[in-house]
Amino acid sequence: MTDPKRYTITAALPYTNGPIHIGHLAGVYIPADIYARYLRLTGNDVLYICGSDEHGVAIPMRAKKEGVSPREIIDKYHNIIKTSFEEFGISFDNYSRTSAKVHHETASEFFKKMYDKGQFIEEVTAQLYDAEAEQFLADRFVVGTCPKCGFEEAYGDQCENCGSSLNATDLINPKSTITGSIPILKETRHWFLPLNQYEDFLKEWILDGHKNDWKPNVYGQCKSWIDDGLKPRAVTRDLDWGIDVPVEGAEGKKLYVWFDAPIGYISSTKEWAEREGKDWEPYWKDKNTKLLHFIGKDNIVFHCIIFPSMLKADGDYVLPDNVPANEFLNLEGNKLSTSKNWAVWLHEYLEEFPDKQDVLRYVLTANAPETKDNDFTWKDFQARNNNELVAIFGNFINRVVVLTNKYYEGVVPRPGVFTDVDNETLEQLRSYPRIISSSLERYRFREALNELMNLARLGNKYLADEEPWKVIKENEARVQTIMFVALQIATALSVLCEPFLPFTSKKLKSILRHSELDSESTWHRVSNKEFLLPSEHHIGTSELLFSKIEDSEIQKQLDKLEASKKANEATAKTVDPQKETIEFDDFTKLDIRIGTILEAEKVPKTKKLLQLKVDVGIDIRTIVSGIAESFSPEEIIGQQVTVLCNLAPRKIRGVESQGMILMTDAVDGKLAFVEPERAVSNGKQIS
Ligand code: MF3
Ligand code: ZN
Repeated sequence: MTDPKRYTITAALPYTNGPIHIGHLAGVYIPADIYARYLRLTGNDVLYICGSDEHGVAIPMRAKKEGVSPREIIDKYHNIIKTSFEEFGISFDNYSRTSAKVHHETASEFFKKMYDKGQFIEEVTAQLYDAEAEQFLADRFVVGTCPKCGFEEAYGDQCENCGSSLNATDLINPKSTITGSIPILKETRHWFLPLNQYEDFLKEWILDGHKNDWKPNVYGQCKSWIDDGLKPRAVTRDLDWGIDVPVEGAEGKKLYVWFDAPIGYISSTKEWAEREGKDWEPYWKDKNTKLLHFIGKDNIVFHCIIFPSMLKADGDYVLPDNVPANEFLNLEGNKLSTSKNWAVWLHEYLEEFPDKQDVLRYVLTANAPETKDNDFTWKDFQARNNNELVAIFGNFINRVVVLTNKYYEGVVPRPGVFTDVDNETLEQLRSYPRIISSSLERYRFREALNELMNLARLGNKYLADEEPWKVIKENEARVQTIMFVALQIATALSVLCEPFLPFTSKKLKSILRHSELDSESTWHRVSNKEFLLPSEHHIGTSELLFSKIEDSEIQKQLDKLEASKKANEATAKTVDPQKETIEFDDFTKLDIRIGTILEAEKVPKTKKLLQLKVDVGIDIRTIVSGIAESFSPEEIIGQQVTVLCNLAPRKIRGVESQGMILMTDAVDGKLAFVEPERAVSNGKQIS
């Protein structure tokens, strides 16, 4: 048994631009939770923190898509995400958010301290600019081809395919995701973190210092970036959503989201300490604290190169001891995708499988993408539930509890002399805390879970070999010993499964009526010669820990995915085919002109119609248009539009409409005007 230590465990702050799905859980939050729970059970001082990542381009983009404000987006998804974590038993000591005051202050101070120490390069450089949107393009506002791997959808700050961190100007064939236009270059002032100056530090700290204890996928990525040579990176942005850059001459600029977000771990710690009446600083500054970042592989560069360089620059902080990043989880052979709705959303899962949180935790751990990308399939989910949780774990517990009640009215019997088999079984039982710990401490969660199941298998085998239900007929005393041993295995399972299956652990402890097992260090007590469940102790009656999942339930999930697939195919095909050919004369018959909307009001008792006064150059005329669900009357006054003027007048709801405004469907599902690219006088024709 090792001395208790202080651990600060962080799990990547999820973006509040959507709910979370099984990929998030499998890659980050479950392994981190298993680890945190395990360390608590072994008597350590553990702080497990997280929070919502509410800045960055992803938020305004989502807001635009949903037609609401960024604030509404972050509030909505922060709540959904936080609830999902609670429902799945993710045992954060604190779940904060980067919109919190304490975070804005902490991030500003961090920047200011570095700024005052002269740790940034301030420079005016040419950056990508969308002339149409009148906006600089950084991060997710721009996509292009990755110069490292050729992936065509790389973002301005990172390629999600190869994990490289990029500067937007590195992209080949960049394209604005706001307007689709090709960006121009425009000069702007920014603050850069000169990563090149941290190369020696990173080489020594990672390449020499963590060659053997970091996962090969993590170490390998770090090594290749460091070997390639690091470049200064801008840590400020021309954006209107984020944390203000707290220095003079930076008005209107915001901190880069990847500068502020990891500082969120520190802010979350402060928030926790404040609430609990503790001191936050040892958790970040005491050199005996072990800092661990649990993340997905797309976050490696930020947690291994950039954030540690910031911590180093500050000088007061410890560096991460390990960054056990996972690869990605796929779903039924395809990449998880929010936009394509190719996901198992946690809040939807619980509607279908209430009370089966542990089943998902189990399957996602058993299948965790630890060393390579992995696939989640519903068939595997069903098989692991039915053939492992029900048939092995649940079956063993059920037999032990039912027999104890049947033979001894629920009272743990007094054992006789242990046979060799008993002693061997007990010896094996006592070795499990060490076996599982050893896997966990190397971040091998799948292996650890498999060992836990081996303990349940040991229990099943023991009962099958000793056959108490047969022996009871000729040797009642022997059965007392058998059941005593089996009960010790059941009790050990209730303790050792807690990090993986917290709901099951709780239920099992309550069945065994052994509540004091929750105390610190119980993990190691499983190894002691002294028995966890003493004779004369009275256990409860059996309750099913797991239940079978039927084919029909799985089919329902598969059908749901099939529907997503169909819907995606349908949207991909929504471009209508070309109409039949017309002659030029047919076209010249159309009198299409530019006009300006002067007045607008709703047509009473209709949902869709606006009555407009439009200056079309020739005259000012009344047009009734079905656009009320996309625009409010006030917002379109002064809007330039394209009008078909010589369309025969028509009475619509009692109003004569003298023409038609040309509209198209925007990507957000609303209507969009067709307007000239520059100001045009009213009455000019389209030809
Ligand atoms: N929001 C990021 C993502 O989902 C993760 C941020 S982790 C932090 O990829 F370190 F910045 F907090
Ligand atoms: Zn790439």
